[in-house]
Amino acid sequence: MSSRRQLLKQTAAVVGAASAGLLLPEIARAQSNKIRIGFMLPYTGTFAQLGIGIDNAFRMAIDEQGGKLGGREIEWFKLDDESNPAKGVENAQRMVQRDKVDVLVGTVHSGVQMGIHRVVRNTNVINLIPNAGVHAATRELCASNVFRTSFSNSQPTLALGKPMVQRGHKKAVWITWNYAAGEEAFEGFKQSYEAAGGTIIKTLGLPFPQVEFQALLTEIAALKPDAVACFFAGGGAAKFIQDYAAAGLKGKIPLYGSGFLTEGVIEAAGAAAEGVVSTLHYSDSLDTQRNKDFRLAYAKTFKLQPDVYTVQGYDTALLLIAGANAVKGDFNNRKVLYEAMENAKINSPRGAWTMSKSHNPVQDFYLREVVKGENKVIGVAAKALADPGTGCRMG
Ligand code: PHB
Repeated sequence: MSSRRQLLKQTAAVVGAASAGLLLPEIARAQSNKIRIGFMLPYTGTFAQLGIGIDNAFRMAIDEQGGKLGGREIEWFKLDDESNPAKGVENAQRMVQRDKVDVLVGTVHSGVQMGIHRVVRNTNVINLIPNAGVHAATRELCASNVFRTSFSNSQPTLALGKPMVQRGHKKAVWITWNYAAGEEAFEGFKQSYEAAGGTIIKTLGLPFPQVEFQALLTEIAALKPDAVACFFAGGGAAKFIQDYAAAGLKGKIPLYGSGFLTEGVIEAAGAAAEGVVSTLHYSDSLDTQRNKDFRLAYAKTFKLQPDVYTVQGYDTALLLIAGANAVKGDFNNRKVLYEAMENAKINSPRGAWTMSKSHNPVQDFYLREVVKGENKVIGVAAKALADPGTGCRMG
């Protein structure tokens, strides 16, 4: 047989086998050998540092495992969502349809998260939420392909009410941005503060991401509450802390918050941040080897100080690694992949945590106070706190 005829014959055999479905898995594997991971995060705007920290620490965790996922190479994609809810669906569609990501890591802002949720629900894309706490994602709209590694919006503030009352502050003003994260943080605060015997005398708010706080601070001064509690984060949080002091309220009316208030902003806020008390699932000063190692590695790699967002980004990768290792990189094996992620115990710098049935962390919350530019742990505010997962019906 001539070599040409032989080649034709072989080709025919290959085509025949392929059309009979025999070679297709091989070909499919060869074509999509790399796992496609897309970051849809804020890289600009008031939450820019949060997105960058998540991205950095996620990659650091992957690098610590040799740069692969379940033995497979990774192809990275990245999109700046600008914390703009109006573009949430469109941006998520880009990642899913244009970039064809297997895993969408995103995002920070609760409103944008709802856009992602609408797109990824009922698809095969794995969505890992490294921050946004919007309740619906792990309550009534929970989904088998959506896992959150951060918190639900009411979790940190569910831990806040009791210590405030215990510290003698029975009348509080609440202030936040008027969007899902602020509103749901308020739900947690109201529940815990009133249950402990506190009274919320006024709630104040402004649209996200506005930072014109003066008029509201004047109102707080006139109301003379025992304390102020709030939800702010990122650049807006640094400005709020500074304006609070500049308005003459620091030292007169104690300032409390869900702990995002003092994450990644202490340096920028400077002396104004001293004495702020908050509750969060992390603290810089957690005295464990795991936390110290993580902080050192992050600071060395990025020449930046880590914070809760970096821990969440790191843990997001740890969760995915646990799943990918269980299926040796075969993401088609969804049952085993999801089971491994659901049952993972994440050995995190924040302390070990597990996944609730609705795919949200069950974790401890610390009471922290800013002392000499650091979030010092001054107590444990809640042990193994789980979001109620209301309305979640996962098969
Ligand atoms: C949110 O929008 O869900 C959000 C943003 C920043 C935070 C916490 C929650 O620090």
